[in-house]
Amino acid sequence: MEKLDVIVLGAGAAGLFCGIEAARRGRRVRVIDHAKAPGEKIRISGGGRCNFTNLEIVPDRFLSRNPRFALSALKRFTQWDFIARMDGWGISWHEKTLGQLFCDGPATQVVEALTRDLAQAGGELWLGCEVGVVERLPAGGFRVETPRGVLHCAALVVATGGKSIPKMGASGFGYRLAEQFGLPLVETRPGLVPLTFAEQELVWMKPLSGLSVEGRVRHGRTEFAEGLLFTHRGLSGPAILQISSYWREGEAISVDLSMGRDMAALLRDARAQGPKLALRTALAGLVPERLARHLETVVAPAGPLGTLSNAGLEQVADGLRNWRLMPVGSEGYRTAEVTLGGVDTDALDARTMQAKDVAGLYFVGEVVDVTGWLGGYNFQWAWSSGWAAGQVV
Ligand code: FDA
Repeated sequence: MEKLDVIVLGAGAAGLFCGIEAARRGRRVRVIDHAKAPGEKIRISGGGRCNFTNLEIVPDRFLSRNPRFALSALKRFTQWDFIARMDGWGISWHEKTLGQLFCDGPATQVVEALTRDLAQAGGELWLGCEVGVVERLPAGGFRVETPRGVLHCAALVVATGGKSIPKMGASGFGYRLAEQFGLPLVETRPGLVPLTFAEQELVWMKPLSGLSVEGRVRHGRTEFAEGLLFTHRGLSGPAILQISSYWREGEAISVDLSMGRDMAALLRDARAQGPKLALRTALAGLVPERLARHLETVVAPAGPLGTLSNAGLEQVADGLRNWRLMPVGSEGYRTAEVTLGGVDTDALDARTMQAKDVAGLYFVGEVVDVTGWLGGYNFQWAWSSGWAAGQVV
């Protein structure tokens, strides 16, 4: 039986970062992962360029039953702190759009830098190691069974992530550990995920597969003005991924295709210039032509522009501003970028990430009920929460 100060379960963004911080404080740290390689999600993130943080880290871009919970960690280890690490590692980066920061080169640079920092600080990494029974020791601390032997530790950090992309090592293990130790869970569901539609919708959507269009996608009072992408199963693209974290089964979303343009005025101009023009042709000047063909059938009345009154054109414009769509589901954890819900933040100390009722037990990263928007927010939460626990374990 080997004794350690800290065991971190999960060598993803949050676990590696926590391990580095704890090891730098002189703690004897072991980071354990069942996957063969560390930081697999970092490697594939951001299309292989890792959108590692965002310039605009503000609380309302994080979903949680208690949106204020994340504030403490996010304020103490900020996006600027992580940017300083990137600069220290010599990894160049750029802002792509909406404050999103990406590596100039491959995301593997970030994984390499994290594993190098962990090793240099004296932390050890066990990969390909399944974790068995985890128990609390009567005198305090934890006993962790692994195929490589039984380990004891004073602090156990659970950084096993969510359920998204099971083939990349996601296991739901952290939620089971939380339940084992009596911590409440907020119901989990896939987030940042493409939405699917019923067969009758797919009849017109499938032929548009691959087409992207700019729109403002709304659900209730939440809206995102970014790209939408038609797929064989329904809709994807940044605006849809964003809204998917707010959408629930049985609810509609609406899309505003006007993007700030006065559609009625543009249609009136088109009518003045060509009264014999088909509505579809006029619409094709406002949205991609393939989509215009479908929209003509839903934004009635149809017919040559000259036959449409101002009120009729207003109705068409309204259809373009409030195009109502009814998803039937999502693509699920197979493609979801994140898992919403998780360990209830009420059960955790916001400063340290320690379970309020289980001394020495910590939860960091995606396993916690804190989920960011698309755009680097989730990695920043992983860095900040991992850092916060790393200061105290
Ligand atoms: P993460 O999932 O990274 O790590 C958990 C680790 O625990 C894994 O290594 C896993 O193998 C291990 N583990 C699980 N069960 C275990 C068990 N039973 N025993 C031992 N180990 C176990 N975010 C962002 O901000 N910018 C971006 O560009 C992207 N891009 C992106 C693309 C794709 C395709 C996905 C799926 C996700 C993203 N994300 C993202 C989200 C981001 O990847 C995610 O929020 C973080 O990786 C979460 O970090 P964690 O360390 O909490 O979990």
